[in-house]
Amino acid sequence: MRFAQRTEAIRAFQVMELMDRARKLEAGGMDVVHMEVGEPDFVSADPILEAGQAAIAAGHTGYTSALGLPALRQAVADYYRDYHAVTVDPQRVVITAGASGALMLLSALLLEPGDELLLADPGYPCNRYIPLFAGAVPRLLPVGPDTAYQLDAGLAAAHWSGRTRGMLVATPANPTGSVLARDDLAALAELAAAKQGWLLVDEIYQGLVYPAELQALPAAAQHGAVAADRVGTVLELVRDPDAPVFVLNSFSKYFGMTGWRIGWMVVPESAVTLIERLAQNFYIAPSSIGQHAALAALSEPAMVIHEQRRRAFCDRRNRLVAGLQQLEFGVPRVPEGAFYVYAELPVALQRRGIDSATFCDRLLAGHGVAATPGTDFGEYRAEAHVRFAYTADIGRIDLALERMAAALAAFTDAL
Ligand SMILES: Cc1ncc(COP(=O)(O)O)c(C=O)c1O
Repeated sequence: MRFAQRTEAIRAFQVMELMDRARKLEAGGMDVVHMEVGEPDFVSADPILEAGQAAIAAGHTGYTSALGLPALRQAVADYYRDYHAVTVDPQRVVITAGASGALMLLSALLLEPGDELLLADPGYPCNRYIPLFAGAVPRLLPVGPDTAYQLDAGLAAAHWSGRTRGMLVATPANPTGSVLARDDLAALAELAAAKQGWLLVDEIYQGLVYPAELQALPAAAQHGAVAADRVGTVLELVRDPDAPVFVLNSFSKYFGMTGWRIGWMVVPESAVTLIERLAQNFYIAPSSIGQHAALAALSEPAMVIHEQRRRAFCDRRNRLVAGLQQLEFGVPRVPEGAFYVYAELPVALQRRGIDSATFCDRLLAGHGVAATPGTDFGEYRAEAHVRFAYTADIGRIDLALERMAAALAAFTDAL
């Protein structure tokens, strides 16, 4: 069989292979702490489960409109109003099959073969592979702690070529958990407009941010709380409904609904009709049951649960960062969001030529901790970095830290 050439550029996630190996070790009786998985360890909140079951019982099993249930589009607009003080016309809200489905639509909408788009390295790999599928050329720009692991307008402008059409940023980002500062995000949106290009902002970890004062805030004031120099969404900065800024979001992470496959976009007014046509032809409509469940995810009782979980993630982040630093991993910037720490291997290991793939391999096989090597997220210093997901409870994180201490000692003894 001959398969299309474009498939050759798409690499398998090492994390998937790692997960398979972890499962095999578990089947053989080993206890494994899972810090490789990029999804919340919580089951969807009860109001979501109940709404999903009620949708099935009520027979909501048919297609919906390609753009999504009108009630859900409205509820998303209300969410921006209530939690981010932003007015969004529900007509600009498009419900999708996850943020992944949203990026497929945008890639089809915006990219001609050979067009370039600028992305940060390290970054979430599908955000470069999906545009690649449309024939585009993802340009990975190396970023480090000095720019908070994010693109900034200076860097993007310096790399903007005649073929560049736009930029894709994620805030908070995967794997670094870094959040774009308000001014930097505004400057990127201005650059996109000045270049007659576009800016895609992946806000899938929106809500999972941990401003310093989070734990001190009363529960009622927590909703949507972000640090003073940050914004909850780029839509706070870009008010023009036809500005070339596209927001990708999802019910997967903060709302804990990875398996329901529902996301959304907020798109410029002028793009809606074409996106509808693309969605109709690509997949007809997002899951009807998932959309009914997502409606409940935005209800007040569910939001209270999401906020409790946010606090739990914040506690875990604090514990993991402190523990990793004690073990002499490099965490030059405390990640402000998502549920990942992108840590640099202790210098002593690097000097001995241990790379992240070797480290993750031995950490799993010898010590029962699964983590993802940086090489899943790009090229820039990837072999020196490991992503730890704090999608395990505090007790398991403590256990992972103990096991890592033992692993580091074993590495030192072996050399
Ligand atoms: C940065 C980022 N964007 C998009 C996605 C896709 O998420 P989904 O398709 O579940 O909405 C992920 C999933 O891990 C992610 O980390």
